[in-house]
Amino acid sequence: MGKQKLAVLFGGRSGEHEVSLISATSIIENIDKNKYELYLIGITKEGHWRYYDGDIQKIKTGEWEQESKKVVFPGDPSYKGFFLVEDPQKIYPIDVIFPVMHGPYGEDGTIQGLFELAHIPYVGCDVLASSTGMDKLMAKAIFASAGLPQGKYIGTYRHEIEKDAEKVVVSIEKSFPYPVFVKPANMGSSVGISKAKDRDELLKALDIAAQYDEKIIVEEFIDGREIECAVLGNYEPKASVLGEILPSNEFYDYHAKYQDGGKSKLLIPAPVPSDKSDEIRELAIRAYKALGCSGLTRVDFFLERQTGKVYLNEVNTMPGFTEISMYPKLWEATGISYAHLIDKLIQLAIEKFNKKHNK
Ligand SMILES: Nc1ncnc2c1ncn2[C@@H]1O[C@H](COP(=O)(O)OP(=O)(O)O)[C@@H](O)[C@H]1O
Ligand SMILES: [Mg+2]
Repeated sequence: MGKQKLAVLFGGRSGEHEVSLISATSIIENIDKNKYELYLIGITKEGHWRYYDGDIQKIKTGEWEQESKKVVFPGDPSYKGFFLVEDPQKIYPIDVIFPVMHGPYGEDGTIQGLFELAHIPYVGCDVLASSTGMDKLMAKAIFASAGLPQGKYIGTYRHEIEKDAEKVVVSIEKSFPYPVFVKPANMGSSVGISKAKDRDELLKALDIAAQYDEKIIVEEFIDGREIECAVLGNYEPKASVLGEILPSNEFYDYHAKYQDGGKSKLLIPAPVPSDKSDEIRELAIRAYKALGCSGLTRVDFFLERQTGKVYLNEVNTMPGFTEISMYPKLWEATGISYAHLIDKLIQLAIEKFNKKHNK
């Protein structure tokens, strides 16, 4: 059997473009080149698709963009691959795609829809699980219907805030006490998220969130430890050991995640009693199944300090994937190396595609 032709997609239009460049570089460096023939396609922040076959180290720095070529990846399944605009007669066939992108337009079902149209297997969740997983309000509604434990929340919209911010604030204040968390419904990496301790801060927080999304979620504050679980698989998903985040800031904001010189700490395995750990891993699998995830997803929890109660926070259908990111680290601690994990994800993509299309 020849090598499988794998397209690695990186970059993208979201605020997590840079994170994607780092995740993709790690994957490209570690993937088994005897098994896979790699084709690298970067998407610029403006959304332009570019083919790149230069030095891997120039991905992280953004230099790849200057040395890349305009590419078209059609949704027409007769192509099952891509072509360069400079030579549209030459088709590059692709067997499987690894979209290493986070946030809107990468992790939210939009690009997954293109792969469905093109009829090519791809790593990770399908359109529905990606889009519901990305939308914090929609995900919560699904988790609630599956009986999963969550904090209180309410949704609001930019147009409601513009029309009558006082009214929005009053209804939030009726729902739960300060402090509250205000988030754009569709983002990631803590972009646009604030903790508001009073009415003034809440008004500001709503304005900030509304800059990123027209849909906003407001949540009660949970004083909890941040516990994460990596789930892997299609029809019989498995949960990893747990990890804990010790944020370097008041909460795990963008700065604490990416800019604080690694002062936020990951504890793997999380120091949690084994019965609690079993409970959380079980909940992670239930959340995964409730959304209909496939391939991979990281499921994030709060473990309330006072009560030991577990709350589901959110899921990440394409979690950070550098060698030192939580998702791969959790699998490493569970017995699956980084390189093996990449291989497994690609094979899960092919398995899912074949089962779905009854092959
Ligand atoms: N309801 C909450 N109570 C306490 N802390 C929260 C709450 N919601 C979010 N946080 C803090 O904000 C961080 C980012 O929120 P999260 O919902 O995970 O968004 P993102 O998708 O951007 O990661 C969390 O890791 C946590 O530190
Ligand atoms: Mg998060």
